[in-house]
Amino acid sequence: MTEQSPALDNLLTESRTFPPSEDFAAQANAKADMYAEADADREAFWAKQAERLTWDTKWTTVLDWTNAPFAKWFVGGKLNVAYNCVDRHVESGHGDQVAIHWVGEPGDTRDITYAELKTEVSKAANALTSLGVTAGDVVAIQLQMVPEAIFAMLACARIGALHNVVFGGFSPTALRARVDDAAAKIVITSDGQFRRGKAAPMKANVDEALEGAETVEKVIVVKRTGDQLEGEVPWTEGRDLWWHELVDGQSEEHTPEAFDSEHPLFILYTSGTTGKPKGILHTSGGFLTQTAYTHHNVFDHKAGEDVYWCTADIGWITGHSYIVYGPLANRVTQVVYEGTPNTPHEGRHWEIIQKYKVSIYYTAPTLIRTFMKWGAEIPEKYDLSTLRVLGSVGEPINPEAWIWYRETIGAGRTPIVDTWWQTETGAIMISPLPGVTSTKPGSAQKALPGISAKVVDDTGTEVGHGGGGYLVLDKPWPSMLRGIWGDEERYKDTYWSRFKEQGFYFAGDGAKYDNDGDVWLLGRVDDVMNVSGHRISTTEVESALVSHPTVAEAAVVGATDPTTGQGIVAFVILRGNAVDGGEEAIQALRNHVAKEIGPIAKPRQIMVVPELPKTRSGKIMRRLLRDVAENRQVGDVTTLADSSVMDLISSGLKSGK
Ligand code: WTA
Repeated sequence: MTEQSPALDNLLTESRTFPPSEDFAAQANAKADMYAEADADREAFWAKQAERLTWDTKWTTVLDWTNAPFAKWFVGGKLNVAYNCVDRHVESGHGDQVAIHWVGEPGDTRDITYAELKTEVSKAANALTSLGVTAGDVVAIQLQMVPEAIFAMLACARIGALHNVVFGGFSPTALRARVDDAAAKIVITSDGQFRRGKAAPMKANVDEALEGAETVEKVIVVKRTGDQLEGEVPWTEGRDLWWHELVDGQSEEHTPEAFDSEHPLFILYTSGTTGKPKGILHTSGGFLTQTAYTHHNVFDHKAGEDVYWCTADIGWITGHSYIVYGPLANRVTQVVYEGTPNTPHEGRHWEIIQKYKVSIYYTAPTLIRTFMKWGAEIPEKYDLSTLRVLGSVGEPINPEAWIWYRETIGAGRTPIVDTWWQTETGAIMISPLPGVTSTKPGSAQKALPGISAKVVDDTGTEVGHGGGGYLVLDKPWPSMLRGIWGDEERYKDTYWSRFKEQGFYFAGDGAKYDNDGDVWLLGRVDDVMNVSGHRISTTEVESALVSHPTVAEAAVVGATDPTTGQGIVAFVILRGNAVDGGEEAIQALRNHVAKEIGPIAKPRQIMVVPELPKTRSGKIMRRLLRDVAENRQVGDVTTLADSSVMDLISSGLKSGK
């Protein structure tokens, strides 16, 4: 069984349950009989869900799994994803409905109706076409949460180009790796971004990233910070174009072309267990079907009535699936907020909920714990009575945070949906259904209707109630990844080799059944850390550290952290007597990691040590380092090549070395 962190232990003693209220159940989109319906005929169930979309050509086969693990869903079907998210709502008479209430960090706002969204997306699609972008080309997007980010993604979808969104906080090195791997032809970014009241450069970083990048033909720059950004925006004549100059003059008419259901929609990079990020590939029909289906049922979304807000960034899968595709396919009215939750004050989210009468709010446990730290008196000052469903995603939510969320934000009334899924799964897989499920603080509970998940032991045998092991998905699902960009073998290896015989998808998460058979997620079992809901691999941070001239060796672990879930703790051996290992040297290393990967990967703590604990075969025993990082008694050292190493490390740390 997997190593469990102490913070997760208390999850398993939780026994409170919260049945849905009768009123909620009566109006809920989800119905209890959906489970049986899906079990009776899974493919018929998914075919019915696919009917939510508008298809130009209907599929002939629901699922082709003959070339497993490469799935094809809705084979023979054709559709345009952007048409489904935009045009059809205008055509059905909802052009005046607000699609996006956009809120800028400095306080500027913009309401965008579906009619306006159609115009903006059409112009952007024409602009991309004018630059020679055609179906199958890759467009990289590094943008903060501005409306143009969404226009750009939908414009790509409209013309069949793949977007490759790179989180705004990623360093030039990380951006470059993602641009090169995907052979991006166009990069879309902004001059600068507002962060905590200040204008910070973006374009300058992109330029640094793109130096000598061979595939990039044009860089499109959204003007966001303008005069407020210090210094000139660096500019390469002939390559760089302002978004407004390029897009504004384009025709507002654009006829969407229908693409095959399996036409690639986007690539999104995520950390794996090696240093090299994986380009996760998603396609069209199945992805849109499952994101729309889950958004409708898990959030109980009612088009034209609800105001929805998912606080994720479009740089992550949650932003793709639950800001852009699922919600817009369902004709959502949603809030999109550009800034941080405490700018200019710690009540910013509640102020926005009050102003726009947000009814569905979807966020991450790390933020909930931050809100708890800031104090209940802050949300209590605002009218949050419009809220009716609260969601959580990204990491296990501890029962304390769950209860606080329900009581303080949800007035003890709203269902909480703890949604488990991954970049790879494309859409929510395990979650309660509001109005159906009696919820349990800390448990994601049950695979959704149409989805099958199991907890199995090392041999792939399902464990019994009360047992723990690995989470696997034992049946294909519509929004599953279709591969790793350019690396078929790595796809098979990473996800399908662990339980090859059984044909299970290995999620990389530890899990447990409680006595009712509900699923509790216990965190990653591989070398991937989860910091504030962001996946970062230990190897990635280790490679960044050893690329610094003063570092001889490095080992990184994720240590339990009360706010961020896990914090990055690095153990480094310095080279000779080059540096003293003092505060300054450590700060330089932290900054180096931020420069190599991005600020999100900055170690919380770096400890200089004389040795690292290794097995006889040279594998670093991270378990022991985690004990040190979490201030625990160091565990079993018998498999170490040199069992005195841990004493050496501990005494070195105590003496403050
Ligand atoms: C973790 C984010 C427990 C898990 C959508 C998974 C969760 C990884 C939950 C995927 C949850 C996500 N409970 N753990 N509700 N949701 N995780 O690709 O370890 O950024 O494998 O996708 O986050 O992270 P990713």
